Amino acid sequence: MSAERVRFDFNYLMADLLGPEAGITRDALDGWQPRAKEMVTRFKRARERGGAAFADLAYKREELSRINELAGRVRSEYKNFVHLGIGGSSLGPKALHLALNSPCHNLLSPESRAGAPRIFFAENVDPDTLTALVDILEPAETFINVVSKSGGTVETVSQFLYFRHWLKKHLPGEDVSRHLAIITDAQKGELRRFADQEGITSFAVPPGVEGRYSVLSPVGLFPAAVMGIDIDQLLQGAASVDPVVCCEQLWENMALMAAVLFYLYQQERGKSQLVIMPYSDRLYAFGQWFRQLWAESLGKNGRGTTPVLALGTVDQHSQFQLYLEGPRDKLILFIKVGSFPARPRVPSGQGVEGFDYLKGRGFDELLDQEQKATELALAQGQCGSCSLTVPELNAHGMGQLIFVLEMVAVYAGMLYQVNPFDQPGVEKLKRILYGLMGRPGYRAEGEEVSPRDKKPGRYVI
Ligand code: PA5
Repeated sequence: MSAERVRFDFNYLMADLLGPEAGITRDALDGWQPRAKEMVTRFKRARERGGAAFADLAYKREELSRINELAGRVRSEYKNFVHLGIGGSSLGPKALHLALNSPCHNLLSPESRAGAPRIFFAENVDPDTLTALVDILEPAETFINVVSKSGGTVETVSQFLYFRHWLKKHLPGEDVSRHLAIITDAQKGELRRFADQEGITSFAVPPGVEGRYSVLSPVGLFPAAVMGIDIDQLLQGAASVDPVVCCEQLWENMALMAAVLFYLYQQERGKSQLVIMPYSDRLYAFGQWFRQLWAESLGKNGRGTTPVLALGTVDQHSQFQLYLEGPRDKLILFIKVGSFPARPRVPSGQGVEGFDYLKGRGFDELLDQEQKATELALAQGQCGSCSLTVPELNAHGMGQLIFVLEMVAVYAGMLYQVNPFDQPGVEKLKRILYGLMGRPGYRAEGEEVSPRDKKPGRYVI
């Protein structure tokens, strides 16, 4: 297992390479050292007082044997694993699945999947997707994992009710609780009450850990163990970067440096959009996870920057034109993989002279050069970019990436003076939806929105 660590390369944010107008100078960053030290001290104090519970997840091992035990049973008894959850209750495990399993996981034979079931993430409440899913699933061979920290999120609860009914209908006389696991708050919420009352196996989301920071808790660990991911290495990876992201020296702390740079670029260079651009199909869902982390942690009180997700190389041929020559409001964060296990090559020009320069070139080299070309073109246009590189796509590397980016969000929260752990806007939306759907106790929200819900026809063409 590689013990190499992730690297943050911010050359193309610096004035030496990008020019004084676009770039940030070394002196300016040096001037941030006292504030950076204060931020780390503040974070450490909050952590000691239990105000940053996510940061200690890598050291929480009490639940690991129960997680591995249930994962083992699921792997031996079921062919399909359906994960119900949304936002922070889904994006973390989905990111791990897509990063660490074959891109064709569900199409592989059971032997090639090495005992892992087929994996499905039913995030949305789109009737088409739901119907398509139950059409291909055999109830007797399906395990349903329900994740909701609050235990009341409409999307997840409605899916849970749907799938539980589906199991009961198709497996009459069977105890369908065996097909279910619930991950929710230890004490609060309807799902918790339901799990306890029905004797459904459950895990707790540790107190003080919000959805988008929960991937290293049972929320991400249980599905990861079912997928056959080495969860011990995942946690070790996160723990291994702890000294780096809690270092008081700005020039040695990649999370702090990234937060300061992203903040400065917004405040002083008008970069109000953060483009997250993995150069790896397998890291696309990880980009979705980080997009949520960034948006939901910082977007408060009129502050924050808007995360935009792009995929290298695909979006070079889609969004790049705008990045380079459109509004100069973007800073690009590449997420790269240092080394790929499989290295297919272009065999030969096959008789076409113009193709010969590709002969023998690896696709990994091509992908790397594509990213270099992108950052060079951006730098020539004085558009700042930086990159976070994971040495290899394995559990250790993913643990590192997760913790580094969580800490970038937390430090950025300090700079923007917002609480990175709450999401009042999301909660408001949930309450309005409860009101619209007639949930008892939310009548006021329902009444408040109903007049606006009756939209006049005159503005519809
Ligand atoms: O990060 C968060 O807290 C949110 O994105 C939640 O994860 C999301 O709203 C789902 O909430 P819950 O886990 O309570 O169902």
